[in-house]
Amino acid sequence: MELSGSLQWLYLKFKLAHLGKDCHLMKNIRVKRPRFIWVGDNVIIGKEAFFYAHPKNKNQKDPIIIIGNGSVVNEHTYISAQESIIIEDRVGISPGVVIQDHSHGYTDVSLPILDQPVDSIKPIKIGAGSWIGLNAAILPGANIGRNCVIGINSVVNSPIPDYCVAVGAPARVVKYYNFEKEQWIKGAPKPLEAQKV
Ligand SMILES: CC(C)(COP(=O)(O)OP(=O)(O)OC[C@H]1O[C@@H](n2cnc3c(N)ncnc32)[C@H](O)[C@@H]1OP(=O)(O)O)[C@@H](O)C(=O)NCCC(=O)NCCS
Repeated sequence: MELSGSLQWLYLKFKLAHLGKDCHLMKNIRVKRPRFIWVGDNVIIGKEAFFYAHPKNKNQKDPIIIIGNGSVVNEHTYISAQESIIIEDRVGISPGVVIQDHSHGYTDVSLPILDQPVDSIKPIKIGAGSWIGLNAAILPGANIGRNCVIGINSVVNSPIPDYCVAVGAPARVVKYYNFEKEQWIKGAPKPLEAQKV
């Protein structure tokens, strides 16, 4: 279904688990199973962003996609959840980003991969204040801390500590903020230096 303007707003207001106040919704936002999607206040959602909730737990009642207050989900972003994708407050998602908490199984060589069950389901969290670069992929197990930067075209499939810049496929930390020295430092933090995610 393609909707825009007040018709789309009305549809989402009544169908989503929650749509906060003062949200800006651009044209043709696509939503599957909106009752599992929670959107906070002052959120901007770009045109043709796609939210696909398909809970693996048939008795699921709570939302499995959460977009925190003041976050921006840019156009053509694709968010697909079977278990949990939490985007905290004031996160910036650039256009074309893919966020998916599951993947297709492929181990049975007698079957096309399309016919094999989904596996590798792991929750995803993107911490408050973080910024995800254009066309990045955020995959099962990504647990991105506070105020992190994820570079353009990067692939995140593991935890990234708070206040880090991570780039590449798979994404590796290339800079982090050291609060004692009050400066950004090149390289990855040693475990004790990392801000806890
Ligand atoms: C990550 C980014 C913010 C740069 O941050 P920065 O602190 O200025 O980092 P630098 O440019 O010093 O890069 C640090 C290292 O990471 C590398 N790097 C930077 N971005 C990279 C990327 N996307 N993929 C792979 N490597 C990358 C640099 O080449 C550099 O490597 P080196 O230390 O071996 O020379 C920028 O490269 C980026 O990806 N921006 C996102 C742009 C975007 O998506 N805009 C959409 C607007 S809505």
